[in-house]
Amino acid sequence: MTALTRREIGALVLGAGVAAAASSAWAKTVADWRLGFKTPPETLDGDLKLLEGRLPPELQGNFYRVGPAQFERAGERLGHWFDGDGMVQRFAIGDGSVRHKGRFVSTDKRRSEQTAGRFLHSGYGFGPKAAAELRRVDDINAANTSILPIAGEVWALWEGGSPWRVDAQTLDTRGRQAFTGPLDGAPFSAHPKRGPDGDVWNFGVLGRSCVIWHLAPDGAVRKTKLIELPAASLMHDFAVTAKYLVLLLPPMHGDAGGEPKSLVDRYRWHADRPLQVLVLDKDTLTIQRRHELPARFLYHLSNAWEDASGTIRLDAFLSDDATFAVKTARDLALGRANPDPTGRLTAITLPPDGGATLDVLPGTGEFPRMNPRRVGSQHRYTYGVIANGIARWDLATGKYDTFSYGPDTWSEEPVFTPRQGATDETDGWLTTTVLNYGLGRTELAVFDARRVSDGPVARLACPYALPLGFHGDFVAA
Ligand SMILES: [Fe+2]
Repeated sequence: MTALTRREIGALVLGAGVAAAASSAWAKTVADWRLGFKTPPETLDGDLKLLEGRLPPELQGNFYRVGPAQFERAGERLGHWFDGDGMVQRFAIGDGSVRHKGRFVSTDKRRSEQTAGRFLHSGYGFGPKAAAELRRVDDINAANTSILPIAGEVWALWEGGSPWRVDAQTLDTRGRQAFTGPLDGAPFSAHPKRGPDGDVWNFGVLGRSCVIWHLAPDGAVRKTKLIELPAASLMHDFAVTAKYLVLLLPPMHGDAGGEPKSLVDRYRWHADRPLQVLVLDKDTLTIQRRHELPARFLYHLSNAWEDASGTIRLDAFLSDDATFAVKTARDLALGRANPDPTGRLTAITLPPDGGATLDVLPGTGEFPRMNPRRVGSQHRYTYGVIANGIARWDLATGKYDTFSYGPDTWSEEPVFTPRQGATDETDGWLTTTVLNYGLGRTELAVFDARRVSDGPVARLACPYALPLGFHGDFVAA
């Protein structure tokens, strides 16, 4: 599998890159959203200052986030948000105070480009002026997408290659997570799911090949399987239920042809093809059911569960097409445009007879999260980012509660931490960050998950601004 995998990814990403236009009009003003796409120093350390409210005494631990952070080298501007080298942020919360630490992940990609002093690698959506030869997929692994706390470490995840192991305290990079045998370097997506037993499920896609991963709580491999997908679909996230794995394959297929400038340029949107759904049995890892939905694109799901009749219910942010992947993420990195989120939270019902229905909830948003204790079982509430704020969607009533930080802010993913011993789904906190570019700083906000509209119960200011990130997780002390 490894040899095929590497040949295939090589074909996907090799080729001359097209230089991203260096933005001569790169704004440096503070009240500018482009502050979120500015390269920070190699390391950051600072204490947060309480602005309002009070940190809940029970909320103690480390809140980790990761995102792209290297946006230029040698005068060349990075041409796609998803290709920036990952920087891990840690907010250590305890005894009423918060301390921040930020470190770049020292990937092979970063080290080689630091040494060269320029961008070397064609990646997800960016091809530098002069691309180096790709030897293996991890050469372009930016470790910039998500965080998996595991076995006392945090893994910084990309989606096409290996996790990168990071020291949970110092944030020093310990190295690539090298699985044994043919799994070494195999794709490991940025959206693993940890079930109530602590086991970790994940997938990884390369063309039409998909690796299914089942790991023990300590990261040891329990089981893997290579399956063939019906199409080479751009798939970023998936869902698990008590019995099943649910894969959603948007009709963004790797059949664009021509000479690819980067990975995403291999893909083409097919408005006349369905969003395909595959349901796999967790024991046998075989496909049990197939469903078809109207043509929609998605990055993220919240959760899935099955009822007694075998009907699977899930919710995800669906978009009309893949504009974000091919255009918006480039506009953001190049400082051209900053549109509001366009995804619509959609409740999807998949009855066992193979049918499918969609119910669109109000508003637009992204980065769905829910109570992690409900992964794979019935949940009622999904939380997510909206323009300038966060929201809580109630899947039972179809209503949502919102909170806005006000203008000149960019809200980031809210992470749910259940209160210790809580049985009610909503009993816990949302920890989140917001770039307040009007004031030139990143802020940390903690919400009572039962009362999102009331605003944060505590809000603290970093002494600096951090680049906008993707995903994170909270590790309770
Ligand atoms: Fe993601």
